[in-house]
Amino acid sequence: MSQTHAIANDLHTDNEFLSDVLNGLNSSPKTLPPKYFYDAKGSQYFDDICSLPDYYLYQTELDLLPIVAQDLAKHIKQQDESGLEIVEFGAGSLRKVGMLLRAIPQINHFTAIDISHEHLISACRTLESQYRELSITPCVHDFTKPLKLCSTARTRIGFFPGSTIGNLNHREAEEFLNNAALTLGKHSYLLIGVDTKKSESVLQRAYNDTKGVTAKFNKNILHRINRELDANFSLESFGHQAFYNAEHGRVEMHLRSLKSQTVFISGEPIEFTRGESIHTENSYKYHPPEFNQLAKRSGWSTEKLWLAPQDQFAIYLLKHRD
Ligand code: AVI
Repeated sequence: MSQTHAIANDLHTDNEFLSDVLNGLNSSPKTLPPKYFYDAKGSQYFDDICSLPDYYLYQTELDLLPIVAQDLAKHIKQQDESGLEIVEFGAGSLRKVGMLLRAIPQINHFTAIDISHEHLISACRTLESQYRELSITPCVHDFTKPLKLCSTARTRIGFFPGSTIGNLNHREAEEFLNNAALTLGKHSYLLIGVDTKKSESVLQRAYNDTKGVTAKFNKNILHRINRELDANFSLESFGHQAFYNAEHGRVEMHLRSLKSQTVFISGEPIEFTRGESIHTENSYKYHPPEFNQLAKRSGWSTEKLWLAPQDQFAIYLLKHRD
């Protein structure tokens, strides 16, 4: 009998959201933390982005995963009868983990960590109906922070697909890898999907889709601030902008003020000049040797690397050097 219980770890209070937003918008240049994209609506927009052909990351990784899952089933030996646990960081819609669950029958526990409560619970319910023998623990938590897991499985495989690590800067990425090791414990593995550096035009299209879904995803953060923090952003007064910054090896996403304006957030005025931007997201891209080095600095070694055709996307199996 499978089991679903939400562990409602405290995420962020309204005050934390408010102070993050005010700190970011009172900085120069203005910024907003990308973790706040993912309310129910934002998570839905992100799912919509994933079905766009321009956003090659999702489908390319999905196409590579069946091969990875088969290889993994051979590679990972179950170390005792307490089983194998998959821990997904930033779990989203859970479609990808299904590929691992189908190919690796030894997996008997799945912990899904995600910041978006409603999205996580409904995705876990769907998974539960498909894998009746699997014990599932949805865990509402900021996946960048360490977490004490309640299962007793000895071998844990962390799963961090989608190049979400690209949304962290290099220091934050190292911190995430260190914290993932703390969460997963000794002898753990981490299966991680990472986008590669490639031609600028491909990256440009991926973050400026013709249907404007990425623009809606980007602007939704303003909508959320209006709703949750009593603000009065006019969404039409900001434009979506995304471009590749070759010097930093990242795609940057911005919201650019189309006029000079004052916005009030919980009574506090924030001034925008015409053309001023709010930097909302970075998406770092890595050549494999660069990523291997980053992982190494956090105590992980690359055991295996799978590359999609034309090196469009990479999946790494890391093992922790305990
Ligand atoms: C979740 N993350 C890996 C996405 C990315 O590609 O950086 C978020 C995203 N931003 C714009 N499109 C998709």
